[in-house]
Amino acid sequence: MQERLKELQQEAIQKIEQSSSLKELNDIRVAYLGKKGPITEVLRGMGKLSAEERPVMGALANEVREAIATTLEAKQKDLEEAAVLEKLASESIDVTLPGRPVKVGNHHPLTRIIEEIEDLFIGMGYQVAEGPEVEQDYYNFEALNLPKGHPARDMQDSFYITEEILLRTHTSPVQARTMEKNQGKGPIKIICPGKVYRRDNDDATHSHQFMQIEGLVVGENIRMSDLKGTLEVFAKKMFGEDREIRLRPSFFPFTEPSVEMDISCMICGGHGCNVCKKTGWIEILGAGMVHPNVLEMAGYDSKKYTGFAFGMGPERIAMLKYGVDDIRHFYTNDVRFLKQFSKHE
Ligand code: DAH
Repeated sequence: MQERLKELQQEAIQKIEQSSSLKELNDIRVAYLGKKGPITEVLRGMGKLSAEERPVMGALANEVREAIATTLEAKQKDLEEAAVLEKLASESIDVTLPGRPVKVGNHHPLTRIIEEIEDLFIGMGYQVAEGPEVEQDYYNFEALNLPKGHPARDMQDSFYITEEILLRTHTSPVQARTMEKNQGKGPIKIICPGKVYRRDNDDATHSHQFMQIEGLVVGENIRMSDLKGTLEVFAKKMFGEDREIRLRPSFFPFTEPSVEMDISCMICGGHGCNVCKKTGWIEILGAGMVHPNVLEMAGYDSKKYTGFAFGMGPERIAMLKYGVDDIRHFYTNDVRFLKQFSKHE
């Protein structure tokens, strides 16, 4: 029996040493130390031994078990360490390899124009304001001096959701909302970019959804000359220092007086070409002095406060600046078009 135990010990230790995986080791553990293993089997025969022999044999059996267990443990540690080293080796990276170029997208041309205009006005102390695209008839029209039934509502064919709710047709409702929020107090200097919607058939110059940027300044002693100076700075920064501007009388229900601003054509310098339709001037935006009714409706004392406002279309500005001939290019997302505005290629 003693010999059989020694033999088992040797056999197990040899197998442990030769094993090359944690699974194999576990199999050996189960085979030799498990309840159905050969050592247990041998010990079962202890009943036949004499009372003196039994403890000696028991002690030996324990020694053998322990020897096997210790060897198993040591081997397990070795194998685990080897596994870690192997993993580290297989995951090592060569930091000196040149990197693969990552393809970066670029800003949409309209985003670029809008950010450029925002930056320009932020530089003059304006804040960016936003409003909802699903708007109340009140802010889109009424608060802007366009009561129900006003003929000028027809200038902006609208998508109504209910009788009182529509997709905003311009960014001017943000003016009304901002003034209302300021509760009759000045000064206000905001620029409001955003999407607007009109029931137009899409063609080269019309889109049922497009963008606008609204500007509003309200304060004491704000005058037409402030509006003109501001627009002149804008035109020069956006289209070149040698641009001239001219203001033509116009009509908007929310401003009085109202104007449209033209800039001298940057293509022909004012001599007349196809872009300016031989006039030397290009229409850029609408503007005016905030109508006293609009100020009063928002809770301002129109004797104390005055203001100016303007509204422009970034698509038109982008078309002129980048020479784009169809507004639909901005919305059809053809990457061949969009890629041309990348700074990276
Ligand atoms: N809301 C006008 C439009 O969509 C544009 C506009 C004109 C805005 C004059 C203004 C303004 O703030 O003063 O046609």
